[in-house]
Amino acid sequence: MCGIVGYVGGAECAPILLDGLRRLEYRGYDSAGTAIFDGQRIGVLRAVGKLRNLEKAVDEAKPAGTTGIGHTRWATHGRPSEVNAHPHLVGDVAVVHNGIIENHLALRARLSAAGATIQSDTDTELVAHLIDSHVRAGEGLEGAVRAALRELHGAYALAVLSAREPERLVVAKNASPLVIGLGDGETYCGSDIPALLPYTRDMVFLEDGEMAVLERGGARITRLDGTLVEREPRYIDWSPVMAEKAGFKHFMLKEIFEQPRAMEDTLRGRLDRERGDINELEIGLDASAAAAVRRVYLLACGTSYHAAMTGRYFIERLARVPATVEIASEFRGRSPVVGEGDLVIAVSQSGETLDTLVAAKEAKANGAKVLAIANVIGSAIPRMADGAFYTHAGPEIGVASTKCFTTQLANLLMVAIWLANRRGHLDADATRALVEDMARLPHLMRDTLMSTRQLVANIAKRYNDARDVLFLGRGPSFPIALEGALKLKEISYVHAEGYAAGEMKHGPIALIDAAVPVLVLCPKDAWYERTLGNLEEARAREAQVIAIATEGDEAARNVSHDLVEIPSVREELTPFLTVLPLQLYAYYVADFKGTDVDQPRNLAKTVTVE
Ligand code: G6P
Repeated sequence: MCGIVGYVGGAECAPILLDGLRRLEYRGYDSAGTAIFDGQRIGVLRAVGKLRNLEKAVDEAKPAGTTGIGHTRWATHGRPSEVNAHPHLVGDVAVVHNGIIENHLALRARLSAAGATIQSDTDTELVAHLIDSHVRAGEGLEGAVRAALRELHGAYALAVLSAREPERLVVAKNASPLVIGLGDGETYCGSDIPALLPYTRDMVFLEDGEMAVLERGGARITRLDGTLVEREPRYIDWSPVMAEKAGFKHFMLKEIFEQPRAMEDTLRGRLDRERGDINELEIGLDASAAAAVRRVYLLACGTSYHAAMTGRYFIERLARVPATVEIASEFRGRSPVVGEGDLVIAVSQSGETLDTLVAAKEAKANGAKVLAIANVIGSAIPRMADGAFYTHAGPEIGVASTKCFTTQLANLLMVAIWLANRRGHLDADATRALVEDMARLPHLMRDTLMSTRQLVANIAKRYNDARDVLFLGRGPSFPIALEGALKLKEISYVHAEGYAAGEMKHGPIALIDAAVPVLVLCPKDAWYERTLGNLEEARAREAQVIAIATEGDEAARNVSHDLVEIPSVREELTPFLTVLPLQLYAYYVADFKGTDVDQPRNLAKTVTVE
């Protein structure tokens, strides 16, 4: 789970590589490095810690050259250290790598026996040794990389530079992402789109088992067996400023406030207000396939798992199809009973989370149809799926997911409405009403963010010393309670638990005392009365109760210490609004504590390891 970049062209490449790495830092940030050909040899600079350490080293060394590669690391093999940082230079060959080489032990033994001096604990250095051995045996760089790849098992996105052929880079991909950017007389590669966005919008996505030779004039893609691949570039219309902070203190805060816009973009072209219907969605199913769906499995990890839990509620309630939601890492490998007639919905912001990818592949191999809900275009999960239904949230940089969560909810609700309608469970009037209400979401979210921001910041300030925080909710608010707790844990390092409010009596109530803030989600829905009962029970045990309730709810106001009001909406839409003050709460607690909000310790945005 690292980030890689590469450049070959006519410009000085050090600033371009550093800029790309800055945009990729969310993928890992325990060390970073560059390798640049200076006209005679490859100069490598590496630094432990955040990118600014590498920037300092580059500033001092001022490496010149117009072909280079760079890397930001999240350690998998070997602790974060300079010797384990990439690029790895062996002979004339420098390599950066994202992924895990599974047969690294056998390779290490073999290379050592053949006399190689291996400096680091990484699997990547072994790749550099392999390529170097083929180069020394007289192969050109492309042939050497191809020969080395045949000996590798596992996941990799690689970029390779050789001092013998400094006018080109060779890149390769299997399971880890790699994007090629085509400029005017210059060619780029990177782990994702935002890294390249300031330089070009014409991008080619490499597929698994492919490699490419990048030169100033463009890229030539081949399969491992040498057959040529013709692939048209795709034009990416994200603007570079979409990947910047736009005046906010942190990406996360910017992304929280971007949600109304992200929602608008995600709903656009999918809700047809004139016809009062959901358009045919890009989900790889037609109406007859919708009728044939026997069961739905939703697979995801992290925040996407909480979206998937909410999706189960949407699908069962509206489409009346049995739905199961599964943590992808638990689903895979336990021989789940899944197969023909099942629709598997894999939910993943990055589209690269390895557990979700493998779980979806297993289900597909058993005959299930797979629908991907992802944000990153052309990423691995949408590519392997039968249908890709993208959220249009734009790049999400903050490690803690916000705008991708709410847009995932939107896609899941649209799938549920579409299924329900095509299966005859929602008549035209009910569909029209839902479409109308969903279309108001951007506006309702904007109002909620504006009206709750200051109040939530004040509450967060008051409770930012709390050591434990409880989040309670029922029905569609239960996954939101889990998400509120996860957000707080991720970025403020405060211990937090999300619970189904009905479970409170079965354990968590023992935790409650005057020092514990309890955030209770109690919008006016079918569960309202019972949840209000839980709120009173918490209050009776002297908890500090913060209610997230429907505007004008005097009963909730009377029994809580603080009341955060959301607009009155139908039950299916409450999760889109109740989650907003919880995101803000986590953000402000973390900001008061002074933690690294956008890059919290030990976490990474994209988890491509098991
Ligand atoms: C990591 C991120 C989370 C994310 C999870 C799943 O843990 O820090 O924010 O929810 O991965 O990622 P995905 O890309 O599959 O949604």
